[in-house]
Amino acid sequence: MAKQNQLSFLTSATLLVVIVSVSETLCRPLGEENLLKQHEEWMAIHGRVYKGAAEKAKRYEIFKDNVKRINAFNNGKDVGYKLSANKFTDLTNEEFRASYTGYKRSPTSVLFSVDAKPFKYANFTATPAALDWRAKKAVTSVKDQGECGSCWAFSAVAAMEGITMLRKGKLVPLSVQQLVDCDVNDEGCRGGLMDRAFEFIISKGGLTTEANYPYRGDMRTCNKAKTANHAASITGYQDVPANNEKALLQAVANQPVSVAIEASGFNFQFYSSGVFTGSCGTSIDHAVTAVGYGKTSGGTKYWLLKNSWGTGWGEKGYMRIQRDVSSRTGLCGLAMNASYPTA
Ligand SMILES: *[C@@H]1O[C@H](CO)[C@@H](O)[C@H](O)[C@H]1NC(C)=O
Ligand SMILES: *[C@@H]1O[C@H](CO)[C@@H](O)[C@H](O)[C@H]1NC(C)=O
Repeated sequence: MAKQNQLSFLTSATLLVVIVSVSETLCRPLGEENLLKQHEEWMAIHGRVYKGAAEKAKRYEIFKDNVKRINAFNNGKDVGYKLSANKFTDLTNEEFRASYTGYKRSPTSVLFSVDAKPFKYANFTATPAALDWRAKKAVTSVKDQGECGSCWAFSAVAAMEGITMLRKGKLVPLSVQQLVDCDVNDEGCRGGLMDRAFEFIISKGGLTTEANYPYRGDMRTCNKAKTANHAASITGYQDVPANNEKALLQAVANQPVSVAIEASGFNFQFYSSGVFTGSCGTSIDHAVTAVGYGKTSGGTKYWLLKNSWGTGWGEKGYMRIQRDVSSRTGLCGLAMNASYPTA
């Protein structure tokens, strides 16, 4: 008797599950209630608190639009990569552009050249078929720039951490905040250029460690006492010949390289996995670091990019993006303004 009761309980439980899943299927695209719940869960995960009901309602509408668009993309034709909701999901694309990039396209003054030597890897031919500088312990952990246009500083520092490891055999996280606060060539959270950052670092004789001068995500007065303690230095920097992915390969085969890129598109904002293939333009507005390259089992060639949007974006903070595209600029303009420090 007891057994029969158990059985009928199981049957109704199964029935319930079936009903629930059927109703979920019938409710496609995702019902309003489900999205409201999803928004609440997302707020909890990302620690988001809104000022008042009006702001929450406004953010929910944006969240909803973004989730719908992400789902539509993922349910559409497979283009080799996927999108997902992330910490940017309650921002419009315009708000995202304004706060989370930071590469200044048009320099306000002409760069002086500390290192006028030609591209030193021009005759380099020993490029391996694939390379991941993370596996060679030349890449520090993925950081999060927060609501500060400091991508240029993260990119410059990652390239410098790489060359320092390759020259000195030690991987030391270096201070991004020192550049944000002290680098008068650039504009802190309002943006900057990696070459200018390299020039600043050379002029000051080096950078201190992240541990000594940690990242804060806003602009503060330069802490001169802390900057005196140099942990690494560079002697120059060089630009990779523009619009030439072959030259970029020669450089990346030798060290992590700073790369400027157009990152403001919707698909870039919500990229989560796979090899990114666009769409995007060449209006460069962001900076990342090329830390490797390879080819998928399906034969798609890619660059491995380290970003500074935290580990919740992309593949644990990284993006694989299509390499050797037909346009000379590289996908999203990634071959237009690449450079690296020398040491
Ligand atoms: C590359 O090789 C050419 C021809 O031998 C030479 O003129 C040039 O200086 C070399 N470039 C570099 C950067 O070594
Ligand atoms: C980036 O590259 C473009 C095209 O090669 C060039 O015109 C522009 O001056 C470069 N910008 C910077 C900041 O170096």
